[in-house]
Amino acid sequence: MEAGAIILLLFALHGTASASSFYGGSISFRAPKEKAGTYQVTLHHRQNGRGSCSDKPSFQCDGGVCTSLDSSEVLLTDQDSMGQDRWCQSEAHTTATLSTNHSSLSLRDSGCCWASNVEGKTNWTSSVELDLGTRSDTQEVNSCPVTTTVSSLRFPQNCFTRVRLLAHDPDGDKVRCRFTKDATVPQNFTLDETTCTLMSSGQVGVNVHVFELMLEDFPTKNITLTYADGTTVTREVSNVNQPSLCKVKLQFTVEILSPIPNCELGHVQPMFLSATPSHDDVLYATVGQTFQIYAQAQANHASIKDFQVSGPRNITKVVKEENFGKASMTLRWTPLQSDVYRFIPVCFTAETNETQSEMRCVVVMVTQATIIQGKASVQCLPNKMTVVLEKASMPGIDENFLELKDSSCSLTSNSTHIMGTMSFSTCGTKIEDKGDFIIFQNEINSFELPTEVIVRRKTVKIGFSCQFPKTISISSYFSLHKSDYIFTESNFGSFGYTFEIFRDGNFSNKVPAKAYPVEVKLLQTIYMGIQAQSELSNVQVFVESCKATPDDNPDNSLSYNLIQNGCNKDETLKVYRSDDPTSFKFEVQAFKFTGNYDQVYITCSVILCEIGSPFSRCAQGCLKEPSRRRKRAVGKETVGHSITQGPLRFVSQAVPEVAVDEDDVMIMNDVMPDVMIKSNTADVMMESYTPAEVFPPTLLRKAEPGEEGGSIREILNTNISTIFFATAFLVSLVVMAVVIRHFSIKRRADDRKSLLVSGW
Ligand SMILES: *[C@@H]1O[C@H](CO)[C@@H](O)[C@H](O)[C@H]1NC(C)=O
Ligand SMILES: *[C@@H]1O[C@H](CO)[C@@H](O)[C@H](O)[C@H]1NC(C)=O
Ligand SMILES: *[C@@H]1O[C@H](CO)[C@@H](O)[C@H](O)[C@H]1NC(C)=O
Ligand SMILES: *[C@@H]1O[C@H](CO)[C@@H](O)[C@H](O)[C@H]1NC(C)=O
Ligand SMILES: *[C@@H]1O[C@H](CO)[C@@H](O)[C@H](O)[C@H]1NC(C)=O
Ligand SMILES: *[C@@H]1O[C@H](CO)[C@@H](O)[C@H](O)[C@H]1NC(C)=O
Ligand SMILES: *[C@@H]1O[C@H](CO)[C@@H](O)[C@H](O)[C@H]1NC(C)=O
Repeated sequence: MEAGAIILLLFALHGTASASSFYGGSISFRAPKEKAGTYQVTLHHRQNGRGSCSDKPSFQCDGGVCTSLDSSEVLLTDQDSMGQDRWCQSEAHTTATLSTNHSSLSLRDSGCCWASNVEGKTNWTSSVELDLGTRSDTQEVNSCPVTTTVSSLRFPQNCFTRVRLLAHDPDGDKVRCRFTKDATVPQNFTLDETTCTLMSSGQVGVNVHVFELMLEDFPTKNITLTYADGTTVTREVSNVNQPSLCKVKLQFTVEILSPIPNCELGHVQPMFLSATPSHDDVLYATVGQTFQIYAQAQANHASIKDFQVSGPRNITKVVKEENFGKASMTLRWTPLQSDVYRFIPVCFTAETNETQSEMRCVVVMVTQATIIQGKASVQCLPNKMTVVLEKASMPGIDENFLELKDSSCSLTSNSTHIMGTMSFSTCGTKIEDKGDFIIFQNEINSFELPTEVIVRRKTVKIGFSCQFPKTISISSYFSLHKSDYIFTESNFGSFGYTFEIFRDGNFSNKVPAKAYPVEVKLLQTIYMGIQAQSELSNVQVFVESCKATPDDNPDNSLSYNLIQNGCNKDETLKVYRSDDPTSFKFEVQAFKFTGNYDQVYITCSVILCEIGSPFSRCAQGCLKEPSRRRKRAVGKETVGHSITQGPLRFVSQAVPEVAVDEDDVMIMNDVMPDVMIKSNTADVMMESYTPAEVFPPTLLRKAEPGEEGGSIREILNTNISTIFFATAFLVSLVVMAVVIRHFSIKRRADDRKSLLVSGW
């Protein structure tokens, strides 16, 4: 009763309809706090507008479950400084209080007047719906997906390709984005529901379009939710019909402008440079300390006048115009105590009078003052990167509980330093195009053992990267060294494998990188060799499995086993005896997959063991029935690491001899063999340049006569390019400042720790 009355009162105060046009908005939350039998849920609401953004939100609480709803005043957070009233954004917050005996909370706000749009939408409703059960995995109420957009997204008609939206989940849940049920989906726009990317499927119409999306999160592990009255529900991953834990609506407009002559990034459309955080980055801010985000963009034939920002209240922005069409922006914000543990979405675009850059979004997590600056350095070499941490600068760090992005790689240490080395294709290293630089990124994370209930170690997250100027093509470099695989494990230090194809059974004449894909005929004998290199001398290599796939995805369901559980599975496979325990050589007759496949990749899982360790996997050899629970002889052997070689490409016997050089290996002239496109990001990178742009003219001129504009691989394989590379890499050696964060899965561990201390 009382709750109902309060809602009516709020209604009367705010009215139902807003006065000015609606251009969309977003909502973000802090996970609900429990206080004396009530939940307090604070939602931060950002509102998009053009000239004015001062409308007060008027959220209502569905089902009358709220005992109070308090709204703050509306504060302008960003505004067009180019005097065109192209955008403004404001933020207000609303705190709902309700009794803990409710299992969900649903809030909505509505109005009459979308800005005039192609779809003819008028009424709007923004809404959120959250489950108030305590999750069994985090012991907390679920956190909703974090999202926002800048107020005004605009694209020349011929330049629209995609809009990457922010869809970050603080609990690590899977987020799905979809158009809301009542949305009128603008023609020729599609949405990738898993990456939350808006794309076009045909020419998009000029003018303003309205988008209404629902972001929902689903756990990736089975969990149970426990409510205040003691009831529980189970959420099973396998159940595709399970309800989401949270639903947050995101509304925005996209304005399609008349076409422009040139859509090339960095021409008139601004392009972000490498100093800018990556899309989806999680950054950390500390209560009471000024937090900064720096972004830099360039447009050679337009001037960047401003940056549009979607950020929290009281954020400040300083924009500087620089030489060569560059401009930079510094955002500053000081979190208050009430912001602690919030995940705050921040998005921005660089603006010229005619157009804007892509939208970049990051998430800022606010922590208590527990951030330690550690000392670390990164060394970038042509085929690997090494990260070294100084132990003394990071008290409390435990090297035995650190891993790289791919958890099969850990780190090694001596008495003063912690070290890890990896190649650009191993240990989960990611490649990213940053406009002017190509960046290889990895990170050091601490991990917990599943059996540990309480963790007393510090939580560590250290990002590091190697960046290379885009004037050299790293993508081709990257695949050129495909056969170099470098890993680090705590008890083995750094070690690497090369995986090569040889021309004959002497294994001395390897097929050079420039000759890939290797052309073979059916039934021709193929010679392959795996060589391990290790800092330790007393080791042997063991090939636990080798399988063939039609592409370089070793998990392809279409595959053929050559070696499995250490046992020979193919009758044409012959393993050569070797005196060198770190080398494994074999031959196999060429075969191909039936159907429309003309390529084969070989992926092997390899293990290094200490020689003479009787229970190691290497000592066991072929296992007919491998026991799944075999305990690893820890310290005596590495985990299995995957290494891939290929492709072998089949030519029919009828191929004229002229196309084939000596030893049946042909030098391919196609510039972009499929191996180069290793990941989605690499993919993106390939779109934007051609060899001629990538290489300095001198390099192209020095290529073999008749090869101008020819294969990148061939150019790379000349000595000149090697030298050029060596210097380029030296110049770009990057030393990163590193921050260790005890950001916490964080606070829970800390909270539990403090509870423990005070309780006992
Ligand atoms: C929730 O608790 C309030 C008092 O705290 C009570 O008035 C209300 O009836 C309860 N609602 C439900 C659904 O149990
Ligand atoms: C828009 O809202 C008004 C007032 O609530 C309502 O009368 C009208 O039918 C709505 N229009 C549409 C198209 O839903
Ligand atoms: C959608 O795309 C198709 C193909 O490009 C085009 O023929 C059609 O006119 C487009 N629709 C609109 C509304 O622009
Ligand atoms: C989740 O629970 C279902 C049913 O209890 C079970 O079949 C499934 O294996 C579980 N999945 C995971 C990932 O634990
Ligand atoms: C924001 O700044 C205003 C003054 O500009 C100040 O009164 C207010 O307390 C600040 N609010 C927050 C949330 O920091
Ligand atoms: C900016 O663009 C608008 C139209 O898009 C135009 O009217 C205005 O003159 C331009 N201003 C400048 C400074 O180029
Ligand atoms: C530990 O390794 C680092 C990095 O390789 C090296 O600089 C340092 O001198 C080594 N310390 C000792 C005590 O060997």
